[in-house]
Amino acid sequence: MARGILLAWIVIHSIAITSVHCRYYSQSKPYEPVKLQKTQLHFFLHDTLSGNKPTAVMVASANATGKPNDPTPFGTTFAIDDPLTEGPEITSKVIGNAQGLYLSSSQDKNLTLVMYVDLGFTRGKFKGSSLSVFSRNPVTEGNREMAVVGGRGKFRFARGFIKVKTNYLNITNGDAVLEYKVTVVHPHP
Ligand SMILES: *[C@@H]1O[C@H](CO)[C@@H](O)[C@H](O)[C@H]1NC(C)=O
Ligand SMILES: *[C@@H]1O[C@H](CO)[C@@H](O)[C@H](O)[C@H]1NC(C)=O
Ligand SMILES: *[C@@H]1O[C@H](CO)[C@@H](O)[C@H](O)[C@H]1NC(C)=O
Repeated sequence: MARGILLAWIVIHSIAITSVHCRYYSQSKPYEPVKLQKTQLHFFLHDTLSGNKPTAVMVASANATGKPNDPTPFGTTFAIDDPLTEGPEITSKVIGNAQGLYLSSSQDKNLTLVMYVDLGFTRGKFKGSSLSVFSRNPVTEGNREMAVVGGRGKFRFARGFIKVKTNYLNITNGDAVLEYKVTVVHPHP
């Protein structure tokens, strides 16, 4: 009798373990394509390195001798919380912020940054939603493009690109205002 109970206990226990092992994923099903819509956004990003309240701060750099007077030698990494505004002036309406990192990624003389940034919106229809940017940003090119690889909230499953133009740059301290023209496709939220 006792052996019977033990056997039952082992059987029940192993069934429980088997089902627990299978519980972390669902059965895969065909994904029904949904109609995508296109959204375009236009705003300015203010990247401020100077002053006593910078929005971009260096968090890492390589122990290597770079070129003299190069503020961003290869490997230099910044953490950012940059305001996004409707117009190019810092006093214009703030509509969100760009949070994340950028890394000086080029060994040659043309500065390239790789951006690992979340563009979050705090006003209007897309308040609480954000776009994920993971892309190189060849900053010396007047007209450049970055990839949008995903999003949150109303931008779930978003994909697209951003046309970036430098609106203002102080080469001495690195302060910059960038114009962002975003095109993304995403399902209707
Ligand atoms: C930085 O590099 C210099 C020159 O190569 C070396 O002497 C020094 O020990 C390095 N410092 C660290 C913290 O690695
Ligand atoms: C650096 O940029 C200039 C101007 O855009 C370009 O002509 C040159 O080929 C670039 N150099 C490298 C190594 O990419
Ligand atoms: C650029 O930065 C330097 C160093 O911080 C500063 O002295 C200069 O006034 C700035 N230029 C402009 C146009 O703000």
